[in-house]
Amino acid sequence: MINIAVLVSGRGTNLQAIINAIKKGRIEGEIKIVISDNPNAYALKRAKKANIEVQVLPYKKYPNKEEYEKSILEYLENFKIDLLVLAGYMRLLGPKVVKKYPYRIINIHPSLLPAFPGLEAQRQAIEYGVKISGCTVHFVDEGLDSGPIILQKAVKVRPSDDEESLSKRILKYEHKLLPQAIQLFAECKFEIINNKVFIK
Ligand code: GAR
Repeated sequence: MINIAVLVSGRGTNLQAIINAIKKGRIEGEIKIVISDNPNAYALKRAKKANIEVQVLPYKKYPNKEEYEKSILEYLENFKIDLLVLAGYMRLLGPKVVKKYPYRIINIHPSLLPAFPGLEAQRQAIEYGVKISGCTVHFVDEGLDSGPIILQKAVKVRPSDDEESLSKRILKYEHKLLPQAIQLFAECKFEIINNKVFIK
Protein backbone atom coordinates (compact mmCIF):
# COMPACT_ATOMS: atom_id res chain seq x y z
CA MET A 1 0.00 0.00 0.00
CA ILE A 2 1.46 3.31 -1.03
CA ASN A 3 0.62 6.73 0.35
CA ILE A 4 -0.36 9.13 -2.39
CA ALA A 5 -0.66 12.92 -2.49
CA VAL A 6 -2.43 14.53 -5.44
CA LEU A 7 -1.90 18.06 -6.70
CA VAL A 8 -4.78 19.57 -8.68
CA SER A 9 -5.83 22.88 -10.20
CA GLY A 10 -9.20 22.27 -11.85
CA ARG A 11 -12.15 19.98 -12.42
CA GLY A 12 -10.39 16.84 -11.19
CA THR A 13 -11.63 14.08 -13.50
CA ASN A 14 -8.22 12.43 -13.29
CA LEU A 15 -8.38 12.65 -9.50
CA GLN A 16 -11.79 10.97 -9.74
CA ALA A 17 -10.31 8.21 -11.87
CA ILE A 18 -7.70 7.55 -9.17
CA ILE A 19 -10.35 7.57 -6.43
CA ASN A 20 -12.48 5.11 -8.42
CA ALA A 21 -9.52 2.83 -9.17
CA ILE A 22 -8.61 2.70 -5.47
CA LYS A 23 -12.22 1.84 -4.60
CA LYS A 24 -12.20 -0.96 -7.13
CA GLY A 25 -8.92 -2.33 -5.78
CA ARG A 26 -7.03 -1.47 -8.96
CA ILE A 27 -4.55 0.68 -7.09
CA GLU A 28 -2.94 -0.59 -3.91
CA GLY A 29 -2.71 2.77 -2.29
CA GLU A 30 -4.46 5.50 -0.41
CA ILE A 31 -4.79 9.20 -1.17
CA LYS A 32 -3.64 10.94 1.99
CA ILE A 33 -4.07 14.51 0.81
CA VAL A 34 -5.26 16.54 -2.16
CA ILE A 35 -3.62 19.94 -2.54
CA SER A 36 -4.98 22.63 -4.84
CA ASP A 37 -3.49 25.95 -5.87
CA ASN A 38 -7.00 27.03 -6.86
CA PRO A 39 -9.66 27.50 -4.16
CA ASN A 40 -12.43 27.03 -6.75
CA ALA A 41 -11.18 23.75 -8.17
CA TYR A 42 -14.03 21.26 -8.54
CA ALA A 43 -11.45 18.60 -7.70
CA LEU A 44 -11.72 19.71 -4.07
CA LYS A 45 -15.40 18.74 -4.00
CA ARG A 46 -14.57 15.34 -5.43
CA ALA A 47 -11.92 14.80 -2.75
CA LYS A 48 -14.21 15.87 0.08
CA LYS A 49 -16.96 13.60 -1.21
CA ALA A 50 -14.51 10.72 -1.00
CA ASN A 51 -13.53 11.77 2.55
CA ILE A 52 -10.04 12.74 1.52
CA GLU A 53 -8.26 15.53 3.34
CA VAL A 54 -7.82 18.65 1.22
CA GLN A 55 -5.54 21.62 1.48
CA VAL A 56 -5.96 24.81 -0.52
CA LEU A 57 -2.79 26.79 -1.03
CA PRO A 58 -3.82 29.77 -3.16
CA TYR A 59 -0.79 30.62 -5.23
CA LYS A 60 -1.63 34.33 -5.26
CA LYS A 61 -1.38 34.58 -1.50
CA TYR A 62 2.35 33.85 -1.50
CA PRO A 63 5.04 36.45 -2.18
CA ASN A 64 6.82 34.11 -4.60
CA LYS A 65 6.94 30.59 -5.95
CA GLU A 66 9.57 29.50 -3.48
CA GLU A 67 7.42 30.37 -0.48
CA TYR A 68 4.42 28.74 -2.08
CA GLU A 69 6.28 25.51 -2.71
CA LYS A 70 7.81 25.59 0.77
CA SER A 71 4.27 25.45 1.98
CA ILE A 72 3.47 22.47 -0.26
CA LEU A 73 6.49 20.64 1.16
CA GLU A 74 5.43 21.44 4.72
CA TYR A 75 2.02 19.89 4.16
CA LEU A 76 3.46 16.84 2.48
CA GLU A 77 5.76 16.35 5.47
CA ASN A 78 2.69 15.53 7.56
CA PHE A 79 2.22 12.31 5.63
CA LYS A 80 4.62 9.61 4.62
CA ILE A 81 4.12 10.24 0.93
CA ASP A 82 5.46 7.61 -1.45
CA LEU A 83 4.07 9.16 -4.61
CA LEU A 84 3.04 12.65 -5.59
CA VAL A 85 0.62 12.72 -8.53
CA LEU A 86 0.02 15.81 -10.63
CA ALA A 87 -3.52 15.38 -11.91
CA GLY A 88 -4.38 18.48 -13.89
CA TYR A 89 -1.95 20.59 -11.88
CA MET A 90 -1.21 23.57 -14.07
CA ARG A 91 2.08 24.82 -12.62
CA LEU A 92 5.66 23.90 -13.21
CA LEU A 93 7.11 22.39 -10.05
CA GLY A 94 10.25 24.10 -8.78
CA PRO A 95 13.55 22.38 -8.03
CA LYS A 96 13.02 22.06 -4.27
CA VAL A 97 9.92 19.91 -4.62
CA VAL A 98 11.36 17.89 -7.49
CA LYS A 99 14.58 17.19 -5.58
CA LYS A 100 12.70 16.18 -2.46
CA TYR A 101 10.82 13.43 -4.34
CA PRO A 102 13.18 12.07 -6.99
CA TYR A 103 11.36 9.69 -9.35
CA ARG A 104 8.41 9.88 -7.03
CA ILE A 105 6.38 12.57 -8.80
CA ILE A 106 4.31 11.68 -11.84
CA ASN A 107 2.25 13.81 -14.21
CA ILE A 108 -0.44 13.11 -16.79
CA HIS A 109 -0.18 15.16 -19.96
CA PRO A 110 -2.64 15.21 -22.88
CA SER A 111 -0.21 14.66 -25.76
CA LEU A 112 2.38 12.15 -26.89
CA LEU A 113 5.40 13.80 -25.30
CA PRO A 114 7.86 15.17 -26.24
CA ALA A 115 5.35 16.67 -28.70
CA PHE A 116 3.28 19.57 -27.44
CA PRO A 117 4.44 20.19 -23.88
CA GLY A 118 2.93 22.98 -21.80
CA LEU A 119 -0.56 24.36 -21.80
CA GLU A 120 -3.35 23.53 -24.29
CA ALA A 121 -1.59 20.48 -25.69
CA GLN A 122 -4.71 19.35 -27.54
CA ARG A 123 -5.09 22.74 -29.22
CA GLN A 124 -1.41 22.62 -30.19
CA ALA A 125 -1.99 19.18 -31.75
CA ILE A 126 -5.03 20.37 -33.74
CA GLU A 127 -3.21 23.49 -34.91
CA TYR A 128 -0.18 21.51 -36.00
CA GLY A 129 -2.35 19.05 -37.88
CA VAL A 130 -0.95 15.82 -36.44
CA LYS A 131 -2.84 12.64 -37.29
CA ILE A 132 -2.07 10.93 -34.00
CA SER A 133 -1.96 12.42 -30.53
CA GLY A 134 -2.65 10.85 -27.15
CA CYS A 135 -1.57 11.05 -23.55
CA THR A 136 1.56 10.43 -21.51
CA VAL A 137 2.31 9.64 -17.89
CA HIS A 138 5.85 10.62 -16.99
CA PHE A 139 8.09 11.28 -14.04
CA VAL A 140 8.48 14.94 -13.26
CA ASP A 141 11.87 16.57 -13.49
CA GLU A 142 12.71 20.26 -13.46
CA GLY A 143 11.80 20.79 -17.11
CA LEU A 144 8.43 21.39 -18.73
CA ASP A 145 6.73 18.00 -19.23
CA SER A 146 10.18 16.56 -19.89
CA GLY A 147 10.79 13.73 -17.41
CA PRO A 148 11.17 10.01 -18.18
CA ILE A 149 8.09 8.53 -19.84
CA ILE A 150 6.28 5.74 -18.02
CA LEU A 151 3.22 5.02 -20.21
CA GLN A 152 1.72 6.45 -23.38
CA LYS A 153 -1.48 5.87 -25.29
CA ALA A 154 -1.94 6.97 -28.89
CA VAL A 155 -5.25 8.44 -29.97
CA LYS A 156 -6.16 9.08 -33.61
CA VAL A 157 -7.00 12.64 -34.60
CA ARG A 158 -10.07 12.67 -36.85
CA PRO A 159 -10.40 15.19 -39.68
CA SER A 160 -13.54 16.52 -37.99
CA ASP A 161 -11.86 16.99 -34.60
CA ASP A 162 -11.57 20.33 -32.87
CA GLU A 163 -9.79 20.99 -29.59
CA GLU A 164 -12.86 20.02 -27.59
CA SER A 165 -13.64 16.72 -29.27
CA LEU A 166 -9.99 15.64 -29.27
CA SER A 167 -9.59 16.59 -25.59
CA LYS A 168 -12.65 14.55 -24.71
CA ARG A 169 -11.41 11.46 -26.52
CA ILE A 170 -7.90 11.73 -25.04
CA LEU A 171 -9.33 12.27 -21.55
CA LYS A 172 -11.02 8.85 -21.60
CA TYR A 173 -7.61 7.26 -22.02
CA GLU A 174 -6.00 9.52 -19.42
CA HIS A 175 -8.44 8.06 -16.91
CA LYS A 176 -7.10 4.58 -17.67
CA LEU A 177 -3.43 5.42 -18.07
CA LEU A 178 -2.90 7.39 -14.86
CA PRO A 179 -4.30 4.72 -12.48
CA GLN A 180 -2.37 2.09 -14.42
CA ALA A 181 0.91 4.00 -13.93
CA ILE A 182 0.19 4.51 -10.23
CA GLN A 183 -0.36 0.77 -9.79
CA LEU A 184 2.89 0.02 -11.65
CA PHE A 185 4.61 2.33 -9.18
CA ALA A 186 2.86 0.64 -6.23
CA GLU A 187 4.07 -2.75 -7.46
CA CYS A 188 7.59 -1.41 -8.16
CA LYS A 189 7.14 -2.76 -11.65
CA PHE A 190 9.73 -0.67 -13.38
CA GLU A 191 13.39 0.14 -13.45
CA ILE A 192 14.97 3.43 -14.42
CA ILE A 193 18.16 3.08 -16.39
CA ASN A 194 19.87 6.13 -17.94
CA ASN A 195 16.78 8.18 -17.21
CA LYS A 196 14.60 5.76 -19.18
CA VAL A 197 11.77 3.74 -17.69
CA PHE A 198 11.71 -0.01 -18.34
CA ILE A 199 8.61 -1.89 -17.29
CA LYS A 200 9.41 -5.29 -15.80
C1 GAR B 1 -6.13 16.81 -18.26
O1 GAR B 1 -6.40 16.71 -19.63
C2 GAR B 1 -4.64 16.74 -18.01
O2 GAR B 1 -3.97 15.85 -18.85
C3 GAR B 1 -4.23 18.16 -18.32
O3 GAR B 1 -5.24 18.95 -17.76
C4 GAR B 1 -6.45 18.22 -17.75
C5 GAR B 1 -6.97 18.19 -16.35
O4 GAR B 1 -8.24 17.60 -16.28
N1 GAR B 1 -2.95 18.48 -17.77
C6 GAR B 1 -2.07 19.25 -18.37
O5 GAR B 1 -2.28 19.80 -19.43
C7 GAR B 1 -0.75 19.41 -17.63
N2 GAR B 1 0.24 19.98 -18.48
P1 GAR B 1 -8.84 17.10 -14.91
O6 GAR B 1 -8.71 18.26 -13.92
O7 GAR B 1 -10.29 16.82 -15.24
O8 GAR B 1 -8.08 15.90 -14.47
